[in-house]
Amino acid sequence: MKTILCIGAGYVGGPTMAMIAKKCPDIKVLVVDIDAARIQAWQSDRLPIYEPGLAELVKATLNKNLFFSTDVAAGIREADIIFVSVNTPTKTFGEGAGRAANLQYWEKTAREIKANATSDKIVVEKSTLPVRTAEAMERILHSGNKTVHFEVLSNPEFLAEGTATKDLETPDRILIGGHDTESGHRAVAALADVYAHWVPRNRILTTSVWSSELSKLAANAFLAQRISSINSLSALCERTEANISEVARAIGMDARIGSRFLNASVGFGGSCFKKDILNLVYLCQHYGLTEVATYWEQVVTMNEYQEDRFAKKMSSTMFNTVAGKRIAVFGFAFKADTGDTRESPAIRVCRYLIEERAAVVVTDPKALENAKKDLADLAGKITYEPDPYKAAEGAHALAVITDWEDYATLDYKRIYDSMVKPAFIFDGRNCLDHKTLFEIGFNVHPIGKIPLSHL
Ligand code: UDX
Ligand code: ADP
Repeated sequence: MKTILCIGAGYVGGPTMAMIAKKCPDIKVLVVDIDAARIQAWQSDRLPIYEPGLAELVKATLNKNLFFSTDVAAGIREADIIFVSVNTPTKTFGEGAGRAANLQYWEKTAREIKANATSDKIVVEKSTLPVRTAEAMERILHSGNKTVHFEVLSNPEFLAEGTATKDLETPDRILIGGHDTESGHRAVAALADVYAHWVPRNRILTTSVWSSELSKLAANAFLAQRISSINSLSALCERTEANISEVARAIGMDARIGSRFLNASVGFGGSCFKKDILNLVYLCQHYGLTEVATYWEQVVTMNEYQEDRFAKKMSSTMFNTVAGKRIAVFGFAFKADTGDTRESPAIRVCRYLIEERAAVVVTDPKALENAKKDLADLAGKITYEPDPYKAAEGAHALAVITDWEDYATLDYKRIYDSMVKPAFIFDGRNCLDHKTLFEIGFNVHPIGKIPLSHL
């Protein structure tokens, strides 16, 4: 029986390996992590991450052909294929701080593989990494004693949080980058065979390592660019009589443009978009391509502008002051169906409101624990309340930051009655029924549309 190892049991490694285990009963899948609490959580009924369908997936394969452990070295010795999906956050220190990827966890993993491997291995880059990191991985792996052969492949992950199991089950494509050598071709074929257990062959693309690495950054940059583009126009719509949903529909029906990823919002978040664009920017700067770097950087700048614009609009609409006012923030996750709050627009919006001395109360069905960590330095200045009705009690305004489906079906009459008047709703996701809310008595301020105001 073939053994696949995954180093790093996070948002990417966990779900991906659970799907491989389910689709490939003939393969033993081992997932290791240095974080013992995380490993324990994967083996329990309380998984470390929330993802629809994931609990069932893990339950179906756990301890049959899916195993979790903290013994990294033993896993390396046993495996034929090793996926590396450790975290690669943006550097917070030194050269490239705020833009380049922090590769310390990743390099440590490479050294561990080197130190423990006693037979040939295929090493698969799963974490998103700057272009040409596979080369560095190869250098580390092939340094010194060369009795073992390592073939490094790039196999970026395109799953989105909240839809990870669906994205894994029916991916648009699987991308595998390998070297144009005999052993490179063999390794690519071996990995393609794993995915071919459930993905049609014509959806498995093979490219060079560098094209594969760059495609991941490029895909995320293009997606984020669509959101920044529509968000930039939402600002113009708010100043004119145009309506951003109508504009998005009209341009989206052009088959060349397409309709997806055109929802104007308070801003994009998540662990990938900003990080990957900044990686791309750093790469372009490194190669002296200043104009190209500036072009992509603007996508991130526009996102920050949109987040700030939303927060400032709250203050200016509420008679230029939120000081002392209770404001209920509906949703802290960076999008619906996840407890993940990395780069969530809620962070910047809450910080602004606290700076302006508002009494902020945050509610979210899945993300309150993460929210507390993100805003740990503001402890005592923010309240966390799982019940949205209680959060809204006595509030001057609701700020919808996450498009949780439940928020569309709350009893807004009950909420309105419990709030201070005039009551405001700032819908950062355009996910509520604005006309009904206006009729209840709310002053409704959407993104990119004319406000519905009684004032
Ligand atoms: C993204 C990519 O989609 C995925 O392919 C990649 O592997 C990782 O990064 P993810 O960060 O999980 O996935 O979420 P995604 O669904 O792309 O949403 C990112 C952000 O954009 C969210 O904050 C979302 O709310 C926002 N968004 C998305 C909009 O504001 N408008 C849209 O139309 C779509
Ligand atoms: P992603 O969203 O890319 O999956 P996460 O932060 O969710 O990122 O997961 C990365 C995981 O990798 C974490 O659980 C972390 O503990 C783990 N990790 C980091 N370095 C190592 C290492 N050297 N060996 C094993 N696991 C590691």
